[in-house]
Amino acid sequence: MKISIVGTGYVGLVTGACFSDAGHEVMCIDNDPKKIEMLHRGEMPIYEPGLEELVERNVKAGRLHFTTSIKEGTEFAEVIFIAVGTPPGVGGEANMTYVEQVGREVAENMTSYRLLVEKSTVPAKTSEHLKRTVLKYLQADTDFDVASNPEFLREGSAISDATRPDRVVVGVESQRAGDLLEEIYRPILEKGGGKFLRMSVTSAELTKHASNSFLAMKISYINAVARICELAGADVEQVAEGMGLDVRIGPLFLRAGVGYGGSCFPKDVDAFVRLSDFLGYDFKLLKEVQRINQTQRDYVMKKIKQELWVVQDKKIAIFGLAFKPQTDDIREAPSLYFVPKLQEMQAKVCAWDPIAEENFKKVHPELECAKDLYECARDADLVLILTEWDEVKNLDFNKLKEVMTTPVIVDGRNIFKPAEVRALGFTYHSVGRD
Ligand SMILES: NC(=O)c1ccc[n+]([C@@H]2O[C@H](COP(=O)([O-])OP(=O)(O)OC[C@H]3O[C@@H](n4cnc5c(N)ncnc54)[C@H](O)[C@@H]3O)[C@@H](O)[C@H]2O)c1
Repeated sequence: MKISIVGTGYVGLVTGACFSDAGHEVMCIDNDPKKIEMLHRGEMPIYEPGLEELVERNVKAGRLHFTTSIKEGTEFAEVIFIAVGTPPGVGGEANMTYVEQVGREVAENMTSYRLLVEKSTVPAKTSEHLKRTVLKYLQADTDFDVASNPEFLREGSAISDATRPDRVVVGVESQRAGDLLEEIYRPILEKGGGKFLRMSVTSAELTKHASNSFLAMKISYINAVARICELAGADVEQVAEGMGLDVRIGPLFLRAGVGYGGSCFPKDVDAFVRLSDFLGYDFKLLKEVQRINQTQRDYVMKKIKQELWVVQDKKIAIFGLAFKPQTDDIREAPSLYFVPKLQEMQAKVCAWDPIAEENFKKVHPELECAKDLYECARDADLVLILTEWDEVKNLDFNKLKEVMTTPVIVDGRNIFKPAEVRALGFTYHSVGRD
C-alpha cells in the first residue's frame, strides 16, 4: 500500500522506515530541506540504533522516498500520516501550529478521498479542529476522514518498538478509515505480534496523554519514595525491587534519579494538565507529579552544593547530556538544567556524551566537552552522572580516581552500589540511598 508521512523526525522517519520494511511504499515529507537533502545522500538526520541500515535497505528496494513537497505526498498516497512536532506552546498547552499547517496544505492539494492520520501526540478533540481546517481549505468536492493513531515508540529502541508493538491504537469514525489502517498494520502485527485496537478518535487521542502521564507519575512516585527512603534510612533500589515484583505494579519506570526529561513526558504531562483544566477538571495528581519532577533536579543540585561547599571555580565533569542512553535527543534533558545552573555559579563545567554533544552545543556552544570520560574528569572536583550510557556503567574507577582532584561522584541515575563505590575510595551520593 502507498503511504505518505509528513514530518521526518524521530517518529516520522522511524515509522516510514518500518512501514516500508513491512512492504509498503512510503513517501516521507519534511519542510526542512536540509533533512531531506541528507536523506537523499544516505545520511541520517537523527541518531537511532539500526535506523541507517533500515533506511538504506528500503531506499535501495525502491520502497522509501523523500521529498519536501506536501503536494507530492498528497498525490502519492491515499493515507497521510501527520508526524510533525507538537512542542509546548505558550502556557504549556501543545502548540498545534504545525499540525494545522499540514492539514491546510493537504486539503489544498487533495483531489480525491484521503485519510489524514494524527500520529503526532495531540490533545483530545484535535480531530475536530483538523476536520474543520480541511473543510475550510478543501478545493475539490471530495470525501475525507481524520483518524488518530498515537505513537508509543521510545527513542533508543524505536525500531523494535515500532516493529513489535504491544498494541496499535487507532481511533476512527468510519469503517473505511479503520480498514485502511488495519491493512497498513497487518504485516507488522502478523510478524511482531501485538493487538490492534479500534476505538473512537477522542479515546485514541486521550490514550496517548493518559499513558505518558501514567508513566511520568510512576517516576515521580518512586522519586518521592526515594526522598522518604533517605529520611528513613532505607534504600530505594531495594524498595523498588520489592514493589516491582508485584505483577500489579511491575518493575519498569521505578528507577529513582534526577527526574524524567525528553521530548515527550514533560510536554505531554503539561498538555494533559492544560487539557483537563480546559475541560473543567483540576488534575491535581498530575500537577504534583510535575512539582516532584521539578524539585528532583534541585534536590540533586543541593547534594552537589553540600559536597563542594563553594561551587565557584570547582571543576565539575558531567557524564551524559542526552536525556537517556542510545539517543542524541537533548530536549528537556536534565543536562539543560544542570549545565547553565552550574555555569551561573561559576563552576568550571566539562561534559562528555558519545552522541548528544553536537545537539547540546547548538544550545550551549560555550560548553567545553571532552571526547573521553577520563579526559572530562581530569582535575575534576566532582563527577555528576546524568545519563546511564554503557561507557559510564563500565567505568574504570581506579583510572577515574587517578585523574580527579577529589574523588567525588554524584550519581543522578543510581547506576552503582554505594558500598562498592565507597570501598574504592570515592565519596558517592545517589538518590534515595544515602
Ligand atoms: N520522539 C518520541 O520519542 C515520540 C514518541 C511518541 C510520540 N511522539 C510525538 O510525535 C510527534 C513528532 O515527534 P518527533 O520527536 O518525531 O519530532 P521531531 O521534531 O523529531 O520531528 C518533527 C518533524 O516535523 C517537521 N515539520 C514541522 N512542520 C512541518 C510541516 N509543516 N511540513 C513538513 N514537515 C514539518 C520538522 O522539520 C521535523 O523534522 C510529536 O507530537 C511527539 O510528541 C514522539
